[in-house]
Amino acid sequence: MNNRIQAMYALLIAVAMFVAAWFFMQSVHGGPSSARAAVAARAAAPVAIDSTRCVASAEWMKSHHMQLLNKWRHDSVREGNRTHVTSDGRHFDKSLNTCLGCHASNPMFCFMCHEYANVKPTCWNCHVSPMEATK
Ligand code: HEC
Ligand code: HEC
Ligand code: HEC
Repeated sequence: MNNRIQAMYALLIAVAMFVAAWFFMQSVHGGPSSARAAVAARAAAPVAIDSTRCVASAEWMKSHHMQLLNKWRHDSVREGNRTHVTSDGRHFDKSLNTCLGCHASNPMFCFMCHEYANVKPTCWNCHVSPMEATK
C-alpha cells in the first residue's frame, strides 16, 4: 500500500517536471510556432527597392550596361557570386531579371534602343525577354 502511494507520487513528480521543462523550452525559444512565424514574416517581408535609380548612374549605364551584364553573367555562373552591391549600398541579384524588375514597365526600353543602335543581343533566345516579361 505504502509502496503504491510512493510510486504514484514519483510518477506525478516526473510528469510535472516534464510539463515544466516543456513550458520552459517553449518560453526560451519562443515556441516552434512563433519561430516559424518569424521566419515566414522575414521571408515575406518586401525588400524595398528604390526603382527610381538604376544599378549605376543612367549616364554610365548607357555606355556600360553590356559590360556590366557580361560581368554579372561571369560572376554568377562561373564564380557563384550572385549579389551585386551598388556604390550606394543597395543589393541586387546578378541576373537579367533584375533589369526587367525595373525596366519591364516599359517593354520597349531595351528593344527600341537596340533597334535604333542596330544591336541584336541574343540573350532573349534563352532568357525571359523584356517583351514578354509584362505579359
Ligand atoms: C532599381 C531599378 C533599376 C534596375 C534594377 C535597373 N535599372 Fe536601369 N535604370 C533605372 C532608372 C530609374 C533609370 C533612369 C531613367 C530611365 O532612363 O528610364 C535607368 C537607366 C538605365 C539606362 C540608361 C537609359 C538612358 O536612355 O539613359 C540603361 C541602359 C539601363 N538603365 C539598363 C539597365 C540594365 C541593363 C539593368 C540590369 C543590369 C538595369 N538597367 C537595372 C532603374 C533600374
Ligand atoms: C540607351 C540605349 C540602350 C538601352 C536603353 C539599352 N541598351 Fe543594351 N545596348 C545598347 C547599345 C548601343 C549596345 C551595343 C554596344 C556595343 O556593342 O558596344 C547594347 C548592347 C547590349 C548588350 C550586348 C549585346 C551583345 O551581343 O554583345 C546587352 C546584353 C544589352 N545591351 C542588354 C540590354 C538590356 C537588358 C537593356 C534593358 C534593360 C538594354 N540593353 C537597354 C544600347 C541600349
Ligand atoms: C544559349 C542560352 C543562353 C544565352 C544565349 C544567354 N544565356 Fe545567360 N544564362 C543561360 C543559362 C542556362 C544560365 C544559367 C542559369 C542559372 O545558373 O540559374 C544563364 C545565366 C545568366 C546570368 C546569371 C544570372 C541568371 O540570370 O540566372 C546572367 C547575368 C546572364 N545569363 C546574362 C546573359 C546575357 C547578358 C546574355 C546575352 C548577351 C545571355 N545571358 C545569353 C543561358 C543563356
